[in-house]
Parts: sequence; C-alpha cells; structure tokens
Amino acid sequence: MLDNYTESVEQFEGRKKDHIELSLDERTQAKGLSCFEKVELAHDSLPDLDFSDVSLFLDSFLGQSQKPFYVAAMTAGHKEAEGINYHLAEACSQTGWAMMVGSQRRELFDQNEKDAWKTIRSKNPNIKMLGNLGLSQLSSIDLKQVEALVDSLKADALCMHCNPMQEVIQPEGTPQFKGSISALRHLSENLETPIVLKETGSGFSKSSLKKIEGVKLAAIDVSGLGGTHWGRIEGFRAGEASKQQKAAEVFANWGVSTVDSVSNALSFHKNTEVWGSGGVRNGLDAAKLFALGANRVGMAKPLLKVAMKSTDEVVNWMENFEYQVKVALFCTGSKNLQEIKGKFVWKNK
Ligand code: FNR
Repeated sequence: MLDNYTESVEQFEGRKKDHIELSLDERTQAKGLSCFEKVELAHDSLPDLDFSDVSLFLDSFLGQSQKPFYVAAMTAGHKEAEGINYHLAEACSQTGWAMMVGSQRRELFDQNEKDAWKTIRSKNPNIKMLGNLGLSQLSSIDLKQVEALVDSLKADALCMHCNPMQEVIQPEGTPQFKGSISALRHLSENLETPIVLKETGSGFSKSSLKKIEGVKLAAIDVSGLGGTHWGRIEGFRAGEASKQQKAAEVFANWGVSTVDSVSNALSFHKNTEVWGSGGVRNGLDAAKLFALGANRVGMAKPLLKVAMKSTDEVVNWMENFEYQVKVALFCTGSKNLQEIKGKFVWKNK
C-alpha cells in the first residue's frame, strides 16, 4: 500500500476531471515546440511502387505484424474515464492500435477499480494493452503490487511514467523521486512483463538517458515537448496568483522537444525500441518520427477529444491518420517503415 496516500476519492476524481477539461484547452498545448518543422521529408517524384504496396506493419516485442501506433496513456480511475476508455479500447480492437491505459495508481487502494479494467479487457481480448504507473510511486510499493496491476489488465507491457514537472507544480503533487532509478532497475530485473519508460510531455535529455543506461527497458516513449504540457495544466488548476500558477507561466515552454528527444533516445539505447509521442497531431508528424528512426508513434490529446464522443469517431480519426502516414511513405518512395528511415533533411538545425 502507498505509505503517503491520504487523498479522498472525491479529490482524486476532481483532479482527473480537471485534467480532461484542461488538456482540451488550447492554452495547455505547447504548440510549435515539438520541432517537427526542423525535419523535412525527402519528396520522391519517382516512387517505384503502387500506393497499394505501402504497408504499415512492424515486428516488435509486442508481437509480429503489429500496427506501429498507440493510444498514449490517458485517463483512469473515475466514472467519466470508463466511457472514454471503452471507446478507445473498442477502436484499438478494430484498427490494431495498441492502448496504454492511464495511471493505475487508484487500483493500489481501490479493489473496485480492477473490475472496470477487467470488463474493458474481457470485451477486447485481442488488443495489446499496456499498464501504467508513476515512477514516483514505485519506491513505496513492492513487486507483488506491481504484478497485480499487470495482472488486472492482462497487460502486454507496463509503462512507468516520469512526470517531475507535473508533480512539482501540482498543488497536491508528490515530487518524490529519490530512489526511483534504483527502484526502476530493480523492477526491470524482476518483473517478467516488458517495461516501457515514458515521459508525459517534457521529453528526455541525453543526461537523463545516461542515468538509465543498462536498465532493462523494452522501449522508451519519449513523450517530448510540443503537445500537452503538464506544467501548464497544473498551473491552471492551482488557481489565480498562486505560486504554482506563476511558476507554470515561467516554465510554460519547459522540456526537450519530441524531435530532439527521439534523436537523443536513438543515440543512447541501441537495444531498446524508441517510441515517439508528444505533440503528434497528424500522419506527417508521425512519418517524420519514423524517418528519424522511431519504432512506434502515439498521441493522447487528439484521441481524447474523439473518445469523448464515440468509438466510430476514434476509428475515423485513426483511419485518417494512417492514410496520412501512408501518403508520406508513398511520396518518399517507401514501401514500409524500414524504407522511410533516413529519408529526411534537417532544416536550419
Ligand atoms: C495524460 N498523460 C498521462 N501519461 C501517463 O503516463 N499516465 C497518465 O495517467 C496520464 N494521464 C493523462 C491524462 C490526459 C487527459 C492526457 C491528455 C494525457 C500523458 C500522455 O500519455 C502523453 O505523454 C502527453 O499527453 C503528451 O502527448 P500529447 O497529448 O501531446 O499527444
């Protein structure tokens, strides 16, 4: 059980609702900071292939012939989340996208929460589902509790999220990361399920990545600067003229861009998959990350918007997105994700 968990269910649910509302507010989006404009894909006027030859599948630790896309972790642990997650899971089942769930922290103290996931999972047994927990919680729980989170979801992998910017600005945050790297190392050596280390919108610098060299990670999801910004969100939650709100304004553009984070991760972790997210808003953004060398691409906020409506809206969004990625592959003369690698030039870098 979490040693320092004193929050009421009402507080917890209130915070999750604020997060949904504020992540849809354009002021919390770090637009223009992902650096996608620095990457220009190389147009090929003479592609020696038909559009129907373009394939969007990859082999990965999650399985053979997988779609290279995922729903980045979002919401869990409250009533509104159930509908959103139901739509996302159903859409993933239809399209073959993987789904990272939102933080499972509440399951650590609320047995009922497990049932919500069991229902979603049993209705969508075919999808690749990834569990989720904050790194700042890892030092205060044991291996059995982590295994229980994986088990309730029948998770194919577990995402551990880093969110120092969010925890430090959040009024009720837990900015306690002391010991978290060794806890992560210990977990990676003892948990049978593959681990994905993810950020939440502030990306990874080279020096952060150096600290986790040798930790057994199946993938790093960079979740860089350029999309949903958790410092901004928590600043708005903190209220007018609070010290947190003032700090959120000062740190509004804090983080390592998604493009730089992907490059950093590729240069550091040769045997770990690199997943690109943070401000990915269309298929061209994704194609640029694949050209850089990312193995998978995901997004949160754009899917949240459609998941609040219906499964069909989510499927429609995903299909449009996939078509755009295929257009980019076709117009760079690439039959598949391997072939687009390296087909770009840096602009004004
Ligand atoms: C998130 N994100 C997130 N990440 C995580 O690891 N655990 C979580 O519980 C949540 N919760 C959450 C809620 C909501 C409403 C949003 C929009 C996002 C962060 C998310 O996975 C992603 O890293 C960032 O949002 C950046 O991606 P986008 O939104 O710019 O595509």
